[in-house]
Amino acid sequence: MSNINRSRRDFLKNSGVMVLGSTLPVSLVELAFAEPSQNFSFAYISDAHIQHIKGNRFVRNWDMGLKRAVAEANLLTPKPDFVMFGGDLAQLGSKEELDHGAEILSALSHQSHYVMGEHDYYLDLGAYWEKLFGPQFYSFDHKGVHFIVLNSIRTYDDWTYKRWPTAEQRMLEMAGLDNPNGSPFMVGDEQRKWLKADLDKVAKTTPVVVFSHSPLQKIYKGWNFWTEDAEQIQALLKPFKKVSVIYGHVHQIQYNQIGNISFNSVMATAWPWPYPASYAQAEQYLPKLTVPMNRADPFFERDATGWQFINVANGDVDLNFTLYNNTDRTVRFDKLKKQPQDKDYQVEKTRINPQRHY
Ligand SMILES: [Fe+2]
Ligand SMILES: [Fe+2]
Repeated sequence: MSNINRSRRDFLKNSGVMVLGSTLPVSLVELAFAEPSQNFSFAYISDAHIQHIKGNRFVRNWDMGLKRAVAEANLLTPKPDFVMFGGDLAQLGSKEELDHGAEILSALSHQSHYVMGEHDYYLDLGAYWEKLFGPQFYSFDHKGVHFIVLNSIRTYDDWTYKRWPTAEQRMLEMAGLDNPNGSPFMVGDEQRKWLKADLDKVAKTTPVVVFSHSPLQKIYKGWNFWTEDAEQIQALLKPFKKVSVIYGHVHQIQYNQIGNISFNSVMATAWPWPYPASYAQAEQYLPKLTVPMNRADPFFERDATGWQFINVANGDVDLNFTLYNNTDRTVRFDKLKKQPQDKDYQVEKTRINPQRHY
């Protein structure tokens, strides 16, 4: 057993997760280095979609998903160094939803960082979110790793500023998954310029971890599993030895390798989306590496949500999905093939047939 595997197993054994014996929607990330004393971990919670009904009433199921993730993150031993929240805290970006979500997250006993989701953004273009959580894009260094947070869900100015009579309608149009009135996500010129200047200060051997809300790769445009300027971002990241992009938004397991960049999605605390290939008979590019996850029980409200435990050893991502009412999945970086691979299902004949909905 390698040191990395042993450290992961010890970590799991010592964590509150195993004590509880439950599978909760929080992602735990461990960065493992040659020197074990440099290892650290962080938790990752994403896509809570807190939804206001009326007065002080909110959709219970989405509240519960986030509350359980927060409770789980607080129980982790050893304590993670910080918590990432991956975007879509709110459903329609209102102050009520953002305040309610922020209140639930305020129970975290860790430092936390936030990513902007489209459901948080398109009502007031992030103004209230910024008051609560700070800048929409930024970077920080932590124990030898350079972390970058991008707002990847912006779009063309014409769509944002000229097309809709009210901010509420703009928000509703972008909130629909399969809406032809939507518009493709992008990082945009301003942030790409900032990203280039930020990366210029980083040594090419430093491991880089990028958090975005949408995938920084093109998967399916119809549902905005897509970032319009993905190739330009990938080009900026290309000179670095090891880059990992971790993203939310897709509410499902996806992984891919493009050159030096490993891509991994995280699960939502709210609900799962189906895979584009199983639903829409339209052109889509689900990464060849990704083995879709079948839903065991669509009638169980927490099914196909979950949490991940991730090792990044010298930049190589090793990712364990723990899923409600479903088989655990491990996606490990294969050093020989230089890409992430599912431990059990990568080989075609071991796969469970995908569900089809048409
Ligand atoms: Fe989402
Ligand atoms: Fe989203």
